[in-house]
Amino acid sequence: MKTPEAIHTMFNMIAKRYDMINNIMSFGTHLGVKSACIKSLDIKPHDNVLDLCCGTGDLAGLIKKIQPQACVTGIDFSENMLDIAKDKYTNVQFFQGDATSLPYEDNTFDIVTMGFGLRNIQNAEKAVEEVYRILKPNGKFLHLDFGEKNLISKIYDKLTPLIVSRFTDNAPAYSYLIKSRQIFPIPAELIKDFESKGFKLYKRKDYLFGVISSQIMVKS
Ligand SMILES: C[S@@+](CC[C@H](N)C(=O)[O-])C[C@H]1O[C@@H](n2cnc3c(N)ncnc32)[C@H](O)[C@@H]1O
Repeated sequence: MKTPEAIHTMFNMIAKRYDMINNIMSFGTHLGVKSACIKSLDIKPHDNVLDLCCGTGDLAGLIKKIQPQACVTGIDFSENMLDIAKDKYTNVQFFQGDATSLPYEDNTFDIVTMGFGLRNIQNAEKAVEEVYRILKPNGKFLHLDFGEKNLISKIYDKLTPLIVSRFTDNAPAYSYLIKSRQIFPIPAELIKDFESKGFKLYKRKDYLFGVISSQIMVKS
């Protein structure tokens, strides 16, 4: 695992090409998967929603599109990723912040989302504790990331660096992203980790033959 400073620098460096590479790496599927996850959250008008590790803002932007009356905020520590998010989604508030130390009171949000973020956070345990703290009782936490380590994910891990290296001169950053996924817990282990912090499982859903998985946890 890289230090937070190294992760910060890495995302600042890849920010400009992040969306393009994301489209390539997901074979154009990531926005569809993100939309499906958001719909399964059943976000109500006026819900207060926070997207953590928002990157270039797609999850936050889709939340606003699917539930335009929700109040949506995105937080990330990479200023370059945030600049792109701000250009793309002017109806969402984006702020720079650290997921392990959030500037919010206890019980502030109805929903917190995090896509492809936790695996990049050195102190992931602290980030999950922060999510629990800032959620209202019965609030929902959507966690989305790579899922099972199956045959398809192994093929994906081999193919991705080869494809990505054709489009970016920052292939090492993408090798890191693949490595970070290989050591990240599988969904069943993650759910146990979330439960140990006080969450209860509400819904788990797998996408693309289990390569991607979402867990919706409820603060009990
Ligand atoms: C792989 S990107 C995911 C971006 C976006 N959620 C998506 O689904 O495309 C991970 C993001 O997490 C951010 N990040 C990593 N550690 C963080 C931390 N401790 N606090 C805030 N943001 C962090 C990075 O800057 C990066 O934008």
